[in-house]
Amino acid sequence: MKNSDIALSVSGLEVVLEGAQVLRNVTFKVPAGKTIGLAGHNGAGKTTTLRALMGVAQSRGEILLDGESIERLATAERARRGIGYAPEDRRLITALNVVENLRLPAEIRALSATEIERRLAAVRELLPELKALERRPAGLLSGGQQKMAALGRALMVGDRLLLLDEPFQGLAPVLARRYAEALHALRLQRPELAILITESNPALLAPLAAQVYTIERGEIVSPAQM
Ligand SMILES: Nc1ncnc2c1ncn2[C@@H]1O[C@H](COP(=O)(O)OP(=O)(O)OP(=O)(O)O)[C@@H](O)[C@H]1O
Ligand SMILES: [Mg+2]
Repeated sequence: MKNSDIALSVSGLEVVLEGAQVLRNVTFKVPAGKTIGLAGHNGAGKTTTLRALMGVAQSRGEILLDGESIERLATAERARRGIGYAPEDRRLITALNVVENLRLPAEIRALSATEIERRLAAVRELLPELKALERRPAGLLSGGQQKMAALGRALMVGDRLLLLDEPFQGLAPVLARRYAEALHALRLQRPELAILITESNPALLAPLAAQVYTIERGEIVSPAQM
């Protein structure tokens, strides 16, 4: 595989939180156009990995986006480079309605009004259930609806790489199926997009991911590291 086919390359990622080493030598790649899973039990380091990739958690090690080093960039600049992040706890602004939440990261990126509308249309196509909720304050949505809204918001800026932290957790089966369908539709809508999904239950990742890495106690244990 050519290097240009790798959207995200992470090597030797280390995170220390309050004196405890939470990530150790985390190394993996997410090719362009592929969905890659990161599976691990509670406390394994999945969220910390995504937070380090977004620059929300301080880390050491190398993070390359399309071959360019981003590990020294601020979170907002990483978003500007096309990384969309849907955190585990969603982090919607509860007082803003859904469409305002969707627009916000794109406005922070100073995208033009036309471009924001174009992106909103693409999100509505993938997640038609959001249409009826657009004017509702995000704080009044159910947990599952918030997951959908957080996916939509990540898609508004994530043109290159999408980081989804346990999107299926707590979703009722019908909604989990809808979410998986939306991810399949997304593959067709954006063939070059790279997606990294974390999940504690690897069986949920198998139908979606081209490859699944397993993290245990802050280390990637499979596939075996060199
Ligand atoms: N701010 C912090 N200070 C100290 N330790 C932390 C902090 N945040 C997380 N940790 C520890 O880091 C480890 C990894 O946590 P992390 O949230 O990344 O796990 P996770 O795989 O996302 O788990 P879950 O499936 O429960 O979401 C855990 O042992 C956790 O207690
Ligand atoms: Mg987590």
